Amino acid sequence: MKFFLDTANLAQIREANELGILDGVTTNPTLMSKEGVKGEAGVMNHYRTICEMVHGDVSAEVFSTDFDEIIKEGKKLAAIHPNIVVKVPIVKDGVKAMKWFTDHGIRTNCTLVFSAGQAILCAKAGAAYVSPFIGRIDDSGWDGVQLVEQIVRIYKVQGFKTQVLAASIRNPNHIIRCAEAGADVCTCPLEPLLGLLKHPLTDIGLAKFAADAKKTE
Ligand code: E4P
Repeated sequence: MKFFLDTANLAQIREANELGILDGVTTNPTLMSKEGVKGEAGVMNHYRTICEMVHGDVSAEVFSTDFDEIIKEGKKLAAIHPNIVVKVPIVKDGVKAMKWFTDHGIRTNCTLVFSAGQAILCAKAGAAYVSPFIGRIDDSGWDGVQLVEQIVRIYKVQGFKTQVLAASIRNPNHIIRCAEAGADVCTCPLEPLLGLLKHPLTDIGLAKFAADAKKTE
């Protein structure tokens, strides 16, 4: 399973990158606005900087929901860097646009996916990635990882090539369960990613080793 960082924060991207296990980045308009990125030129520059920092795919989201506008925005984003993947919402014109992008050699990440039916449409349109939103499903009282399991099963049975990118991750357990479910990629903020490191027995073991190491000095 690949690890993508779900952020537009350059310091966090640098920190995850330094671990050597970062495979890409996903962003969305909310994450970009959190970093104070403004204007078309500002947005383009920010994406270019991220692409230069990370060796892997960087998802850049369109904000239009109309076919012509999605194509216009997506073309501009795709022209920034070869690693840009155009993130498109699962709406009717979005499906049409993803098929257009696929036919024109531009890779897409289908976003705001909350059902298996939506995931089937993404695959039919030739999306490179489908992004089911685990945390937001959990927040509404359902089990987001079950959707990942279902999409992975359907894609396997049908031989769809679209990669399952588990998104909206809230905690380390989400990452572990998505890995178990067979997600191709997990995109998450830095905190749950670093949370995978934590175990109290590791801390206790380290303290004991440090104390015993002193006895050998
Ligand atoms: C994924 O690509 C989305 O940008 C993101 O995971 C949404 O996460 P949130 O539900 O924490 O906003």
